[in-house]
Amino acid sequence: MKVLLVGSGGREHALAWKISQSALLTQLFIAPGNAGTSSFGTNIDITETDLEGLLHFVESQDVDLTIVGPEAPLAAGIVDRFSDNNRDIFGPKAGPARLESSKSFAKSLMRKWHIPTANSTLFHDHKQAATHLKQLTTYPTVIKADGLASGKGVYICRDEKEAYKAIKDLMVTRIFGDAGKLILIEELLVGPEVSVFTFTDGTNISPIIAACDHKRVGEGDTGLNTGGMGAFSPPSFWSSSLENEITTEILKPIIRAMQTDVAPFIGTIFAGLMITAEGPKVVEFNCRLGDPETQVIIPLLQTDLLNVFKSCVHGNLGPKDVIWDDKASVSVVMASGGYPAKYNTGYEISGLHKIKDPVNIFHAGTRTNESGSVVTNGGRVLSVCATGSSIYETSDIVYQNIDKIDFKDKYVRRDIASRRSNI
Ligand code: AMP
Ligand code: GLY
Repeated sequence: MKVLLVGSGGREHALAWKISQSALLTQLFIAPGNAGTSSFGTNIDITETDLEGLLHFVESQDVDLTIVGPEAPLAAGIVDRFSDNNRDIFGPKAGPARLESSKSFAKSLMRKWHIPTANSTLFHDHKQAATHLKQLTTYPTVIKADGLASGKGVYICRDEKEAYKAIKDLMVTRIFGDAGKLILIEELLVGPEVSVFTFTDGTNISPIIAACDHKRVGEGDTGLNTGGMGAFSPPSFWSSSLENEITTEILKPIIRAMQTDVAPFIGTIFAGLMITAEGPKVVEFNCRLGDPETQVIIPLLQTDLLNVFKSCVHGNLGPKDVIWDDKASVSVVMASGGYPAKYNTGYEISGLHKIKDPVNIFHAGTRTNESGSVVTNGGRVLSVCATGSSIYETSDIVYQNIDKIDFKDKYVRRDIASRRSNI
């Protein structure tokens, strides 16, 4: 099979690494990719949201299957566009992808289908939202933009003053543009947070896998929110009864809801959950794999990933298509100092050749410069990942390897999946 993978992050490098091991693969293209993905296929200089450019490429090269990593092309309708042109593509159409791109849409579906989630109220108008605050007696409260805001549209407000500011930022100043046209004011959920993943062909779902993501930039989960500074699997609190509860109370119902009320959801369901005292509740649904969670879960997949994508697209995902290893897996991000605020790029990365199997490097913000050196090209530069028999032992292996890699201004959180971690 000729395959096109869309995206350029650590998630896509991990997917390219695994797809390259498939016996079904004849040729892999990555658009646009990064310095790491070029070891497994050909990087193509087309951006992830250039739907026409991507379709033209697939038609000219007669690509058999396209796999979409990030959410933006899904929300923009890449799957609809490709399907209309009889091109196989893994991911949901724009209708079902609203599960991620509209939080109010996801909430109303969850309410109708009795899927446990935080209570919330939707506002179209900032004055009504402000009036609602006057009646609110419990803080902290959560205020979030309805639309896509790169994970930054959520405010946990400790008091009324912070809540007013959140409403103003989102609805009046519109710091996230139209994403803040509608907002939700919702109950704060308390408990450990976990990302849960399943592949689906629209009817059948695969066995699930869970990972925890360290979102804050600073040790002890402090400082600004980032795209994720590292992840690990499984969470310490994971159990087969929790797995069954999440499958039967959350994932199967959302697939049924999609099939019945919207359109079959073909792709990856990523449920962001809080394990509250009342049981698991949905914080949000995403319609794609997570980054950096993919870098820890994909090395645990024992089966052929390309076959999983193909089976989902062809509507015949079988019970043995997805088998997860029960080992521990850890991924730690090396970032550019200053991230997620201002940082510099273009610095040469040394020591990459010192990392040997079975430890993996997955690149994110990297590129190869004119003289052939790999240099930094983003906030999250790369992640170092390993699997092992326990989380702490695997975390130690990852940190030993991280110390072999160097670049100017490098920044690493030292407590990912470690005994010092709060998760
Ligand atoms: P989201 O963009 O909805 O994933 O939210 C980003 C982050 O905000 C989540 O990963 C949670 O850590 C936090 N969050 C969102 N909603 C809630 C909630 N209702 N209660 C507590 N934390 C929340
Ligand atoms: N790691 C969270 C996300 O991919 O949205």
